[in-house]
Amino acid sequence: MKHLLSIDDLDREQVETLLARADSFAEVTRRDIKKVPALRGQTVVTLFYESSTRTSSSFELAAKRLSADVVSVKASGSAVDKGESLKDTVETIYAYDPAAIVIRHPYAGAAKMLTRWVDASVVNAGDGMHQHPSQALLDVFTLQNRMGSLEGKKIWIVGDVLHSRVARSNIAAFQLMGASVSVCGPPTLIPRGIESTGCDEAFAGRSREQADVVYLLRMQNERMGENFVPSIREYARLFQVNERRLGPRQLVMHPGPVNRGVEIGSDVIDSDRSLISEQVASGLAVRMAILYDLLNSGDDAAEQPADGPVPIGEPA
Ligand code: CP
Repeated sequence: MKHLLSIDDLDREQVETLLARADSFAEVTRRDIKKVPALRGQTVVTLFYESSTRTSSSFELAAKRLSADVVSVKASGSAVDKGESLKDTVETIYAYDPAAIVIRHPYAGAAKMLTRWVDASVVNAGDGMHQHPSQALLDVFTLQNRMGSLEGKKIWIVGDVLHSRVARSNIAAFQLMGASVSVCGPPTLIPRGIESTGCDEAFAGRSREQADVVYLLRMQNERMGENFVPSIREYARLFQVNERRLGPRQLVMHPGPVNRGVEIGSDVIDSDRSLISEQVASGLAVRMAILYDLLNSGDDAAEQPADGPVPIGEPA
């Protein structure tokens, strides 16, 4: 695997291999010395054209924990503000000879476009409404850690599915790992033809208790040119998930950032049924595994043990 652009490019075995690697990196993150030399001498550039807290910080930290040199560029405050094109910006950072470029961009297909311009590995950290594959992988990892397996589990994705790259990636990833997925939200925020992805549309009136996991999405206001719901208050009244709307065994996930009191109640965020903090923690280990796998997919990979790099201080 040279690039990570879409969950659709992965099969189940590849996901399982990558998440087994993430498991060994999660163990590394619990040590006193949390760094391994796997990417020493290599450079990773993160290039974010949209705001981010979780994805940008965890990719940056993941690369540092693997001992790579890291250059982080945010479009805001960079030469993009002076009118530099994506291609010119990419050519500029490519002069540093990066092994990987992690990009978030508002346009679907931007990450794929980079693969035609550079020889580096490209990681899609979110392209418009299209894909956010590392989010889907960390969500599968989080659920596997909690539930063991996704096989036969029922997952409801609730909220603004229409504008959500997380929904598109996660529907594919959850199904790939054996879960059945339903989407639920105001009709204006459910994409037409969603059934073609293999999931069904669950209606708000139907009991959410059927779900093992309720995966909440925020309203993607930055992608809305018009009003899709009568009001946020009305939306919250009908679709907000709070303790009153959950059965005792149900788990709740959210990719963040959350809008407390809109799609999710504070009582749920702060309860032990919420996996939100675990999702963030998983992001680091999974993104270490992604960078490691992409940058060791050549001849050197054969020299690496299957369960990940040998930690500093242990015999190789
Ligand atoms: N889930 C997610 O992509 O969060 P950020 O926008 O903070 O990166």
